[in-house]
Amino acid sequence: MDRYAHIVGWGKYLPREVLTNEALAELVDTSHEWIVARTGIYQRRIAGRRESTYTMALRAAREALQVANIDPRDLDLIIVGTATPDYLFPATACLVQDALGATRAGAFDLEAGCTSFLYALAVASRMIMAGANERVLVIGAETLSRIVDWKDRNTCVLFGDGAGAFVLQASDAPGGVLSAMLGADGSGGPLLMIPAGGSRQPASPETVRRGLHYVRMDGRAVFRFASRVMSEAASEAIGAARLTADQIDLFIPHQANLRIIRSAARRLNIPMERVFVNVQKYGNTSAAAIPIAFCEAIEEERLKPGDHVVLVSFGAGLTWAAAVVKWQIPIPVPPPPRHLRFRRWLRYGWAILRSRFRHLRRRFDAWWVRITQGDVA
Ligand code: COA
Repeated sequence: MDRYAHIVGWGKYLPREVLTNEALAELVDTSHEWIVARTGIYQRRIAGRRESTYTMALRAAREALQVANIDPRDLDLIIVGTATPDYLFPATACLVQDALGATRAGAFDLEAGCTSFLYALAVASRMIMAGANERVLVIGAETLSRIVDWKDRNTCVLFGDGAGAFVLQASDAPGGVLSAMLGADGSGGPLLMIPAGGSRQPASPETVRRGLHYVRMDGRAVFRFASRVMSEAASEAIGAARLTADQIDLFIPHQANLRIIRSAARRLNIPMERVFVNVQKYGNTSAAAIPIAFCEAIEEERLKPGDHVVLVSFGAGLTWAAAVVKWQIPIPVPPPPRHLRFRRWLRYGWAILRSRFRHLRRRFDAWWVRITQGDVA
């Protein structure tokens, strides 16, 4: 029997702090008018001092699990798509797994620039369709404000922070993720990169002094690449789902630049009324952009059962990806009863206690081994 991967839960988190174009113009030589005319962005969100990719991913994940009414212990896999993990290792997905108490789930991060979320969605849906997993949590989360050079007007005006999450579940009912295509062209890597901090140029006082830990971008070249690849990727995914562009009810593109979005819609012959845009509010939140936009499309009741949605993205690598989803859930979704929310709240409290206890036990074990066996060396 055929298996399908349905989106049964969704959630987003955006930090409270809003950075407007006017406020940015006090930091770098730019203006509200220039940013709006060239990008369509009016403002972006910036993570607070106590926030990170992990904390935002967790907030989005909890919301998605609540909508899906799924116990974290029933998750098989957690994938976090991000270019700004909390650490090089452990994976941010493992931090989320621990905090959720998703004790049966595998967890890993996936890095494909801004395309990470759609890459993760493709992996998750195929794991489900192949029969390997039943329920997968897919997150896109980014804290780009920590990797942009706030003195570089070419990049700092573009990016923002946030997170979004989907819960995918196996089903026999046709629908869900109908197709997904992935693409890459590594020869374009230098167009959008962080030169230092990896194994090629490890962090040193010299790399820090030269600002090599910040995003470097050839904006014009990325613009040309994006304008072309968005429509090509979307067309390929639409064809793979055996549909045509006029059967697409909602187009949710990567939210990087309104001009790129308009150009892709024009090439696909999709009118702007069927295109979801929120880049004006959040800027480019990289891997978080698609799931955040998807959540807002649901909040605005832009989807009804049977609708076909195209998701398409591009990013560092260079990478691109697109997916077609057949939506099945009537909107609005009623909030879960109070007692279920309370039970979930207790469960997360328990997960945190469990995690602390396991930390302590590891320290105790290490101390006990030292006491009883002495230093092996
Ligand atoms: N404020 C004011 N002027 C700025 C500026 C800013 N924030 N950033 C650049 N400029 C200047 C440039 O220095 C240039 O000046 P010059 O003509 O004197 O050299 C001028 O504006 C035009 O620059 P240009 O790069 O041609 O502008 P553009 O129309 O291509 O827009 C981007 C620049 C970055 C907005 C656009 O190229 C873009 O969106 N590229 C894609 C980036 C992207 O999506 N990256 C993420 C990928 S996931």
